[in-house]
Amino acid sequence: MKFEDKVALVTGGASGIGLCTVQSLAELGADVLLADINADAGEKAAADIRAKGGKVQFIRLDVTDKASIKAVRDQVLATKGRLDVLCNVAGWGHIQPFVDNDDAFIAKVMALNLNGPIELIRAFFPSMIEKKGGKIVNVSSDAGRVGSLGESVYSAAKGGLIAFSKSLAREGARYGINVNAICPGPTDTPLLKSEPEKFLEAFLKVIPMRRFGKPSEVADGIVFLASNRADYITGQVLSVNGGITMVG
Ligand SMILES: NC(=O)c1ccc[n+]([C@@H]2O[C@H](COP(=O)([O-])OP(=O)(O)OC[C@H]3O[C@@H](n4cnc5c(N)ncnc54)[C@H](O)[C@@H]3O)[C@@H](O)[C@H]2O)c1
Repeated sequence: MKFEDKVALVTGGASGIGLCTVQSLAELGADVLLADINADAGEKAAADIRAKGGKVQFIRLDVTDKASIKAVRDQVLATKGRLDVLCNVAGWGHIQPFVDNDDAFIAKVMALNLNGPIELIRAFFPSMIEKKGGKIVNVSSDAGRVGSLGESVYSAAKGGLIAFSKSLAREGARYGINVNAICPGPTDTPLLKSEPEKFLEAFLKVIPMRRFGKPSEVADGIVFLASNRADYITGQVLSVNGGITMVG
């Protein structure tokens, strides 16, 4: 996989799957923008990767804020001239009965997992059309493919992101823009660890490999779809999940 001369932006790059994606892209030679709402963690992660020789710069981004997205778009295009790879990794959810979801919870889940990625892609898509190429990888979830108890709105948002990715893939193909989705199963990150122990134990029982995914294993899927090795792959959904779901 070659990423030399490629400019990549990873949302949610300060933690978990996003951080592993940034690390891997930097190791492969990309010029990476680590975009996250958490400036302290993002600055530190970028500095750590730079110390190992990677080309990484932190950029503050709130994917739920259109003004923040526009500012990032303007800064990236002004300083780098283009964006070759966009990985929408930032997302959030919490297991809770649907009847307990209040307005703020639903708005947050939809904003982070669906509207945010759509707005970010909307910001960069015209520049990718102009440059006649780009790779977009959207991190959805197995919840968006098969549903997940206690995650109804999250599943709706992630399922929406899959449908959006497939439709946009059709539109982007004529410009050389690939759009694909990755669906992690339960993955060992701070987000998963924030759920009660009883849910984690229940997940482990139904994962054929009997372990959680490592964030680096999900990042491997993201990086593959973002690479030249996936030039003929678009509109596809790849689960990285130890076999917990097997969608035909
Ligand atoms: N961990 C899992 O088990 C699992 C399973 C399926 C899907 N996913 C999906 O994978 C993605 C990454 O999850 P993770 O487990 O690595 O999470 P994580 O909580 O470890 O990392 C999420 C990152 O997103 C950042 N972020 C939060 N709000 C933001 C905002 N408004 N703007 C920009 N950045 C923001 C956080 O600061 C954090 O750095 C998410 O989309 C999540 O829904 C995770």
